[in-house]
Amino acid sequence: MKITKLHVLLAVFSLAFIVSCTKDEATIYVQHYDEADYAALTQVLDIPNNPHDYSFKLPNHLGGQRFQVNTDLATLGRVIFYDNRVSENNSVSCATCHLPEKGFADPRALSEGFDGKETDRNSLALGSVVNFQSSYGSSFSQRIGFFWDERAQTLEEQSFQTIENPIEMGMEMNLLGDKLLKEEYYQILFRKAFHASDNRPNKDKILAALSEFVNSIATFDSKFDKVMSHSANLTSQEALGMNLYNENCASCHGFDMSNLPVSVANNGLDWVYKDKGVGARTQKVTDNGVFKVPMLRNIGVTGPYMHDGRFETLSEVIDHYSSGIKDHDNLHPNLKTNFSQPKAMNFSESEKASLIAFLETLTDTHSLMQEKYADPFK
Ligand code: HEC
Ligand code: HEC
Repeated sequence: MKITKLHVLLAVFSLAFIVSCTKDEATIYVQHYDEADYAALTQVLDIPNNPHDYSFKLPNHLGGQRFQVNTDLATLGRVIFYDNRVSENNSVSCATCHLPEKGFADPRALSEGFDGKETDRNSLALGSVVNFQSSYGSSFSQRIGFFWDERAQTLEEQSFQTIENPIEMGMEMNLLGDKLLKEEYYQILFRKAFHASDNRPNKDKILAALSEFVNSIATFDSKFDKVMSHSANLTSQEALGMNLYNENCASCHGFDMSNLPVSVANNGLDWVYKDKGVGARTQKVTDNGVFKVPMLRNIGVTGPYMHDGRFETLSEVIDHYSSGIKDHDNLHPNLKTNFSQPKAMNFSESEKASLIAFLETLTDTHSLMQEKYADPFK
């Protein structure tokens, strides 16, 4: 080969690049995976060799805090999240029941598990919170539990229960590591994420990766956020809806959609609950019909609604609060009058429309549909 000026120039440039990389630890390596690894990965996966940045900073109206996310761990978690191999018969992945374009919820009232059986409850929208870490606290200071009955304290516990659940994924966690290890892309991704000499996938590593990915999902760029940061205005209809929301709903669902004043409650859906919710777990009658209060980000796209997906539309939800609240023994005080009667908010048709218009301002699907959260399989 003839050495041309161009070759020399290229050599000088790449040398300069290597030097600049080693000098400054914060520099992102353009070639994150070596050539052979990247060739193997890209046979199956559509992931960049210059990895996505999963870390994020909350906007000032939500505290401005920065959250550091480990890119290799989150990338591995993303692949696991979308991989049908995680279920016993390779039929469903986490994403089967948590669709990014639906706020990471399922448009079906009940989801279908690996075996064709229906789940007991409606899938919870992972995009209903700004971000699990920032809204729920770290695993050490966790205030809010996962699932409709808050039975899991950490994301690791949640994923463990879901993967082993006989309706959802039916996969024995202790066998999953060896199953994944059969795939070359996992050998590479686990090696990248866990530098230790023992990089065999096991239960803890799988759960750590899933948790890192789910904890990286963040949504704070809705119209509501733009209004909070003074870069947009509500229409008069949305503003009326916001007032109605603040008066009637925020005492439980929160004012800034990042904090929950009340974490579990009964909201008077039924006189008698088929699914006792927290009560089924604690065996206390005072917990019957008590369920997690969901945060309402992206609520316009996460229907159907409630723990059993009974309401198809937001309009049905508003009708419930307007005139359908049942006087259950455990009905939360925030939904009672001063005389201890169930509130009837009796919204007019135009008030209902305003409330819905306001709730629609909480939609931020473009954040949730970013490539870094999307299905990486080709
Ligand atoms: C077959 C459908 C299905 C699959 C597969 C599935 N989920 Fe879920 N997910 C649900 C349902 C249903 C709930 C609510 C269950 C409950 O509360 O009892 C839920 C709840 C959750 C929650 C709790 C959210 C909250 O606000 O409390 C998280 C987090 C979650 N899933 C993540 C995952 C991850 C990660 C995976 C893959 C390991 C996964 N899910 C696989 C259906 C599914
Ligand atoms: C006492 C606290 C409380 C108040 C006040 C309240 N809610 Fe709720 N909300 C809940 C609980 C608890 C649930 C879940 C109940 C269930 O599924 O059994 C819920 C569920 C919802 C859901 C469905 C969420 C989902 O992901 O499926 C929407 C939407 C909703 N509420 C909107 C409102 C609106 C709008 C108002 C005001 C008009 C309001 N809520 C007032 C406690 C409350």
